[in-house]
Amino acid sequence: MKPFYITTAIDYVNGSPHLGHAYEKVLADVIARFHRQLGEPVYFLTGVDEHGQKVQQSAKLRGIPPQQYADEVSLEFRALLPQLNISNDDFIRTTEERHKRVVRQLLQQLFNKGEIYKAEYQGFYSTRQEQFLQEKDRQPDGAWPEIFGEVTEITESNYFFKLKGYQDWLVEFLTKNEDFIFPRYRQKQVLEFLKDPLNDLCISRPRERLEWGIPLPFDENYVTYVWFDALVNYYSAVAATGQWPADCHVIGKDILLPPHAVYWPIMLHALGLPLPKSLLVHGWWSVNGVKMSKSTGNFIVPADYTAEFGVDALRYFLIREMNVGQDSDFTRVQFLVRYNSELANNLGNLVNRTLNMTTRFGGGIVPAAGPAAEAEQELHALWNKTRDEVIPLCEGFQFHTALEKTFAFITATNAYIEKRAPWKLGKSTAEADQVLLRTSLATMAEALRLGVALLQAVMPATTEKINAVLGYTPGAIWRDELVWGSKLAGSKVAEALVLFPRPQPAEKVPAKP
Ligand code: ME8
Ligand code: MG
Repeated sequence: MKPFYITTAIDYVNGSPHLGHAYEKVLADVIARFHRQLGEPVYFLTGVDEHGQKVQQSAKLRGIPPQQYADEVSLEFRALLPQLNISNDDFIRTTEERHKRVVRQLLQQLFNKGEIYKAEYQGFYSTRQEQFLQEKDRQPDGAWPEIFGEVTEITESNYFFKLKGYQDWLVEFLTKNEDFIFPRYRQKQVLEFLKDPLNDLCISRPRERLEWGIPLPFDENYVTYVWFDALVNYYSAVAATGQWPADCHVIGKDILLPPHAVYWPIMLHALGLPLPKSLLVHGWWSVNGVKMSKSTGNFIVPADYTAEFGVDALRYFLIREMNVGQDSDFTRVQFLVRYNSELANNLGNLVNRTLNMTTRFGGGIVPAAGPAAEAEQELHALWNKTRDEVIPLCEGFQFHTALEKTFAFITATNAYIEKRAPWKLGKSTAEADQVLLRTSLATMAEALRLGVALLQAVMPATTEKINAVLGYTPGAIWRDELVWGSKLAGSKVAEALVLFPRPQPAEKVPAKP
């Protein structure tokens, strides 16, 4: 069975990874884990984009060769993955032989088919930015913006890929496959974009201007330029092992148009290769409303948060706060609000009460439940409703709502405990109270086990820890774990587990911003 093949964008190694990169990895990881949970084999690829102008420039600034620079920065991106508990199966670097070989093969195939031609290109060129400029880059007064430095008109021969001829095909493909891009309105944007005629795509740079790239197989005086190299990673990583096509490319909104929505489908179609099944386009994390980025320097370092609050707290926050596709501002205050109220006070509290009361009133063993009265029946019903809503929400990438509903169930379980007040029942020797006490201990433990099963993809380590303190080993089939029952009866629980230590009081947040 071909695995569900999921990828992330490959990050430029022109700076250290920030929270935006972390988010994309975590989002893809949650989807990968969700599919594995459902019993599907999964292949999860991520990696780094090491060639091109940006990397060459960054290396030059540091005064070291680009390969050495890429080696160093790639290590940082690679190190981010275990730090975030990412379950990727592979990590690709575009400087690897397996990648370069495939890029050259595909370029040669297109060249042989007559899809690539050489032409003279005349235009304005910024040496500082090392890029061709267009009329739309001019300021209203006609001058070139300061950032471009000296702008000259140059004539240069380059290689072009015949995109133009595939425009009608692409429009037809997108019209027929309405669910190719999530969110749907992004697909509409692509169709809008395609109302204007496409230009053929310049895919080369003369080597005297850009040394740091993959040489064209049919003309070694040129290297291939950026997208032809980068996009192919999704295919080159699995060309030998047969996972292609991808089921889901997870990318940010800045690289949908034109690379992923136009170049990539057309490249594959021209090569006679199958297209990916879908593109999942997420939005941006910003700081004070400004997009977090390597170049502006306004970024959050993921390790700062994982070190202080733990991996799962950061994973939870990223997935809970962001509605996939939209943008979100990252603030420490908002992070602390969710950390304190949802993780420490709600989930952490439920875990501690369950362990504590089972220890005090059940001798550390989860009892068998007696007959369900109204309060138990209500909680059972809420569980069934929650589970039946959460799975389709996850299938539709509505993870923030899935978490909201899961936490509403956890809140309801805490409320159930308040209502049953086992600490009062424990003082009574009446048989009816003792039955109710056992029922309440069994119910809170079972509700915790179930709620946590829904958190598994987002907070895998936390789920594992909670199962361990409940003395529970989940079965192999995740869906079977979601049925309210008595799986924990007789289980020996631990006495305590500190999951989400409260931040120092000085850091407490006064009120919701
Ligand atoms: O674009 N919030 O690399 P990159 C959310 N190498 N996501 C963000 C973000 C933010 N503030 N900043 C960046 C490239 N990203 C190319 C990709 S794929 C064949 C080649 C996301 O390092 C961004 O949207 O600039 C992209 O999906 C990924 O991080 C890598 O960005
Ligand atoms: Mg970028």
